[in-house]
Parts: sequence; C-alpha cells; structure tokens
Amino acid sequence: MKKDYESRIQELLSKMTIEEKIGQLQQCGPSLVGAFDVSFDELLNMMFDGRISQEEFGRLMSTAEQDFHEEDLRAGRISSYNGVGDAGTADRLQRIAVEETRLGIPLLFGYDVIHGFRTVTPIPLAESCAWEPELWEKTGRVAAEEATAAGVHMTFAPMVDVAKDARWGRISEGAGEDVLLNSAYGAAKVRGFQGDDLSKENAMAACVKHFAAYGAGEAGRDYNRVDMSPQRLWEEYMPSYQACVDAGARAVMPAFNDINGVPCSVNSWLLRDILRERWGFNGLVISDSNAIAECVIHGIAADRKDAARQAILAGMDMDMASNTYIECLKELVESGEVPESVLDEAAGDVLRIKFELGLFDHPYRTTQKREQETLLRPEYRTIAREAAVKSIVLLKNKDRVLPLKPETKAALFGALAADKGQMTGSWAIGAKEKDCVSMAEACAARGLDWQYCGPDADEAVLQAAAEGADVLIAAVGETKEESGEAASRADITVSEEQMRLIRQLADTGKPVIVVLFNGRPLAIPELHELAAAVVEAWHPGVEAGPAILDILCGDVNPSGKLTTTFPAVTGQCPMYYAHINTGRPGGKSKFTSKYLDAPLEPLYPFGYGLSYTTYAYTGQKVEKKEDGIHVSVAVTNTGGRDGDEIVQCYVQQMTGRRVRPVRQLKDFAKISLKTGETKTVTFVIPYAGLRYYDWEMKETPGEGILKVYVGGDSQAELAGQVVL
Ligand code: BGC
Repeated sequence: MKKDYESRIQELLSKMTIEEKIGQLQQCGPSLVGAFDVSFDELLNMMFDGRISQEEFGRLMSTAEQDFHEEDLRAGRISSYNGVGDAGTADRLQRIAVEETRLGIPLLFGYDVIHGFRTVTPIPLAESCAWEPELWEKTGRVAAEEATAAGVHMTFAPMVDVAKDARWGRISEGAGEDVLLNSAYGAAKVRGFQGDDLSKENAMAACVKHFAAYGAGEAGRDYNRVDMSPQRLWEEYMPSYQACVDAGARAVMPAFNDINGVPCSVNSWLLRDILRERWGFNGLVISDSNAIAECVIHGIAADRKDAARQAILAGMDMDMASNTYIECLKELVESGEVPESVLDEAAGDVLRIKFELGLFDHPYRTTQKREQETLLRPEYRTIAREAAVKSIVLLKNKDRVLPLKPETKAALFGALAADKGQMTGSWAIGAKEKDCVSMAEACAARGLDWQYCGPDADEAVLQAAAEGADVLIAAVGETKEESGEAASRADITVSEEQMRLIRQLADTGKPVIVVLFNGRPLAIPELHELAAAVVEAWHPGVEAGPAILDILCGDVNPSGKLTTTFPAVTGQCPMYYAHINTGRPGGKSKFTSKYLDAPLEPLYPFGYGLSYTTYAYTGQKVEKKEDGIHVSVAVTNTGGRDGDEIVQCYVQQMTGRRVRPVRQLKDFAKISLKTGETKTVTFVIPYAGLRYYDWEMKETPGEGILKVYVGGDSQAELAGQVVL
C-alpha cells in the first residue's frame, strides 16, 4: 500500500532553514585525495577513456584516501552521495547525517547499477535480445539485492533511451531501437529494482534516464542536439519513459541534450508540464552529472547562477556534481528570483523519496555482514549465466557447423577470448575482473583441450594451432571502452588487425566461428562472408565464458533475437526497421531513395536470430473484434531440437493523416516448443495501440487498411489485413 508522507514532509520543511533546504538538493561524490588528487567524476572518466584499467579504478577506490566532505555533511550541506558502494562507508556517513546534523535527515546513496552490481549481467542491449520481461525483472532484482547490501538506495537506471543510430556508444545501455521493447524493458527493471515495497531494506529506487530522447543525438555523437518533430518525439521516444513512470519509478534524470533548442536540464515543459502535470509524477528529479553548470556552455544560461535559477524553476530537484545550487540558490531565494515555495517543492521531493525508502525509520539499512553474505552468491551467478545465454544471438550458421560435436577439436584465437576484464562491458563500476570467466578459462573448466592462441602468437604458432584443429574460433569485436558513454564511433567496423586475423584463419580453409564481443551493432559484411558461423555474445558479464560454451557446444539452443538493426556499412546509420516509405522507395531505378555505394538492406535485420532448430508459421488469422485486432498463428518446431522462439507481431497502416512506418512492432511472445510441437499464439492489439498524432498533434485513431505481419523477425510475412 502506498503510504502518505505529505504531513511529515511539511512538518520537517517547517523546521528547516533555507540553507538546510538547499543542502537537501546537493548530491556530491567523494574526491580522492593525496597522490590521487582527482574527483570521482574524473576518475570515472579516466577509467572510461582507458587511462586506467577497471582494476586500477577499483584499487584506487578502495585504497586511496577519499574525501567525503564531512564538514559539509555535518553542516547539513550534503543530501546524497553518488559512487559510495560499500556498506562500511555508507554506514559511517549515514551515522554522521543522522546523529550529528541538526535535523538528523538521512542520506540517500545513488550509484550506477546499470547491469548488475558485483554479479555483472549482460549489458542492457544484450539482455534486451532475450525479449523476456521476467528475466529483465529477475536480473534487476539480483542487482538490487547486491547493491542495497552494499549500502546503495537508488540506481541511475533503467536507461530507456530509444537508440536508432549504431554510432552512439550508449546504445549499449538500453534496449535498442524499438519503443515498445524499451518500454517493456524499462518497466520490468523498475519492478525488479524497486520490488513491491520501497521501504524494504532490499528495495532500490529506480531513476529513469535520460529524459528525454538522449538516444536521438544528431549523427550518433554523444551529448549532441536533438531536433525533431513533436509527433516523432511522442510516438517514438516518450512512451518508454512514461512506461517507467507508470510502473512506479521514483526518480527521473533529465538528459544532457537539448530538445528543439532547450536543454532538458532547464526544460520546464518537460519536467513540469509533461512529467509532473500530465504523468502525475511526484518523485525525485536529479540532474545528470554537472549538467546544470553545463547549461552555461550550452548557451541557454548566462552564468552558473542563471543556470541554477533556470534549473530549479524548471523543476530540477537535485544537483548532481555541479555545486551550482549550493553556491547560488541562497542568493536567488533571498532576492526573490526563486520563490521559497519552489525551493520547498524541490526539497519536499527529496524528503519524499527518503521517507518512501524508509530511511527516516531505518537509516542503517545494511551491514558489512549482509554485504559479505550477499555479493556474488552462487545463485546470482546462475541467473547471470541464464541471462548471458539468452542474450546471445546466432547470426550465421552455415552448414550447421554449430553446435560443435563433442569430439570436435577447436583452436581459440583473439585477445578477447582470454581477457576477463573485458567481459563486463561499459558501466560496471562495482565489478571485479577476477569474478569474470573468459572463454579460455571456461574451455579449461569443461576439460576441453582446445589450444588458445593469444594476440602475440607469431605466424608459425598460429598456423600450427590451426592445423591441429577442426574448427577455428575467433573472438573479436570491441573492447568495453569502445562503447558506452562518450564512445561514439564514426566507423562501426571491426579493427583492421582483427580482420587480418579472420582472413588468415579463413585462408586455412577450415570453418571459422566468430564470437563477437561488442556494445553496438557492427558493420561487418566481409566478416560475415568469411565466417562459417557468427555468434553475437555482446559483453555478457561475469559468466561470459560458460554461457558462450553452452551455446557453442549445444547444451543450450540459442534463442536471442536482435533488438537493433545491423547496418552493412556505417554510412547507412541511422538505420532502423520502423522507417517510413518515401514516394520513391529505394529500388532498381536511378531516381529512388538509396546510396550509390551501399546496399539498401541491413546486414542483419531487427528481430533476427537463428536457432539450432527451425520453426514454421502457419494458419495466420487476423480479425477485427470489439477489444482490438486479434492475430493468431500456429508455430511448429520443425527441426530436431527443442527450442524457444520469439514470435513477433508487426503492423503497417497503409494510409494515414501522416505517413505511417512500414512496420511497427505491436506485440511479441516467447514460447518453448519441443521438437515437432505446435503452439498457437494469439495477440490482441487494442485499438488504442494504433493511435498516432496528426499534423496538429491531435491524437488520431488508426484508419484505412491495416496490414499485419507475424513471424520470427521484422521481415515476417503478411498474416492478413483488416480495414479499420
Ligand atoms: C551519465 C549518467 C550517470 C551519471 C552518474 C553521467 O555521466 O550520463 O548516465 O548516471 O553520470 O554517474
């Protein structure tokens, strides 16, 4: 049951000074002092751009002396920390807040728990390829169990930025290009993180980000401008944030980017009119890191004070890292430029989430003992392996080279086959390299005496390894630093060095199996041609090696399907399935919409993924009924293995007041089928789900002919049509 804390909030506010209220809006991170005189943000930067390894980051965080600005904390000038992820420190700081500040208001600890805390699960883009909300919720729950045991109260996740441009490095942090999938993914994560009662010690508040449309940055360049029609914004980008708010997410993080010229951090239309008024959100709005101050550079605020004024008036409650509120708000309130009622509202939002988390009644939510007993439990590793296996997408399997037979001798090539630290992918700051299992280690654990040939091996060693093996397995792709924040790429290929290896292996005439590690789609037509099989493993997390071998050796039948289109060349970006037709769709004749030097088709379409068995779709039926369009189809497992199939339902409205996408995913179902078994799947598409916006932004019901496609990917066959 939702509890009402409003009177307690008001009572507390009435006792607070202006300074104390402003203090409640301040989030900071620890600074590292002494030999490592860098801020937490800078240290994070150093890890992301490769100046220090993840291991070094962990070592610095645990050994360097950290400055938690305790004098400020005692004076009531700190409300929240970002980046404190251990029970001991959290407890010590919380005691200062509760026992040594005038009002004893507890601290809120925020942390980027993006895909697992210590038990790192696959990157979100990977996990989305499982098309399984129950799994997304389950891994979210594991993340919350671990992170809360380590003192965390709120995660800066889920990220539900729809991303259609593979050049953008942060495509790795979300559920891909489709709005329906991002909505389902985000809502499941919110349920998993928060559980059924936020005041429980193992519940973690979800902070939905980055509101809004961060994934639509021009040219796929991080932080870049977003300029789009309101129709497109509402149809393709906003629903995923709303789905998370509807699922009960208690915090929202505005995005770095501007929308049509107004940065989200100072955008009152976004933060007040839409989020609070229209969607009824009354939780916490926390800025992205330093984003308020950056409004000056953006060119919307004259100086830091003006940025602080605009942000709080727009509805930004908490300042992450920029210190503009703590520096400027007092003067702004005293001069009347910011009404005290606005300050009260912001401080009230902060207090509300602290009440909801139960922090006033139980500020010390964890202990070091609980932390020790919780992190990396064997059952969490089992879930991480399940998630990794379900995230893997089989992209090519010529002559059924996979699964490998037990007697097959393989040789392993490529640095990524043995690099444990690379397995987590980006944003895994609670991870430890030693927890990860590489492919090479997993082979040894299975008793497979496959030779591993590291990147330093010379030609002769490589040849000898290849000669002694029946199949050659090459682990290539991207390092974890090549995707994630501030990791946009203008050329989304596999490096030349890695391609040389693939060519060399292919020249031997033996089948080459490529295992891809990456945080985004890659444009790899040559690799596709040379390889007998391509296994998309993404950055799979701590159980990388065992999960990949489960697939290669055939213990598990692959079932993952792409949630993002793989272009054939980078120049096709942004490329996505739900595009619209021009009056001259690309075709053979010259004056049509296409490139002279690139194909029209993607390398692998959205929704695509192979299995070790085959499925047949028959008996499609599409009917208009009172509650919506009923679509049914019989799916039969026609191959020799049991398997899971992801059945997808797309629609196309042939005419409209605005042109409609050639396909839109409207529903999906994941079903298990034994060999020879048939199941009938029925989708009901409610009429409300076909609504769209006309030129004047009026919501319009679907009309005219509606074609429906059902099948195993976005190129599914026509199932039937109705007239709306
Ligand atoms: C990222 C956010 C993240 C924040 C806090 C920023 O750089 O954009 O996604 O939550 O840092 O660490």
